[in-house]
Amino acid sequence: MINYEKICKNIEETKDLAYRFAKLIEKNGCFINLYGEIGAGKTAFVKLVAEAIGVTEKVTSPSFVILNEYHSANIPIYHFDLYRLENEGVKTITDELREYSEGRQITFVEWAEFSQNEIPFNHIKINVTYDDNDFRKYSFLPVGETCTEIVKGLMQ
Ligand SMILES: Nc1ncnc2c1ncn2[C@@H]1O[C@H](COP(=O)(O)OP(=O)(O)OP(=O)(O)O)[C@@H](O)[C@H]1O
Ligand SMILES: [Mg+2]
Repeated sequence: MINYEKICKNIEETKDLAYRFAKLIEKNGCFINLYGEIGAGKTAFVKLVAEAIGVTEKVTSPSFVILNEYHSANIPIYHFDLYRLENEGVKTITDELREYSEGRQITFVEWAEFSQNEIPFNHIKINVTYDDNDFRKYSFLPVGETCTEIVKGLMQ
């Protein structure tokens, strides 16, 4: 099992990690589920990846709108937050999520645990944990061959 873990002592170290990750996904895209409690650093990571990829729009949390999209970089970024949908609502968009896993784009999903069932297509799970200070642990778990190669890239 490939699993890359990185402890980021502050937001600058998270930025370094996000920039390295962006380099590995900016050409072909990727589908990413982010896990972690409220305030862990899911949206913060998405913001930094978007910045690295060259998004010029302001990146905000999609908590209230469910989906934000950004088209100012060379590859589109779709950023979901399923928190408000909860379990019942997520069932209604599972097929839609699948469409966002096909083709060339970067898709981030916060609160994917509300989709309950295992997402069947290739993706990377990023789990963010933290305690009281600015330390954050980001763990990358790939599902599928192409995603495994991406996570291996982080290890180099
Ligand atoms: N090392 C770090 N890495 C990432 N974020 C950090 C770090 N240190 C401090 N932070 C701060 O932690 C906060 C993380 O908030 P963020 O909105 O990313 O949480 P979230 O996981 O998206 O929560 P929610 O479930 O509410 O959407 C931000 O204010 C960010 O600046
Ligand atoms: Mg968030």
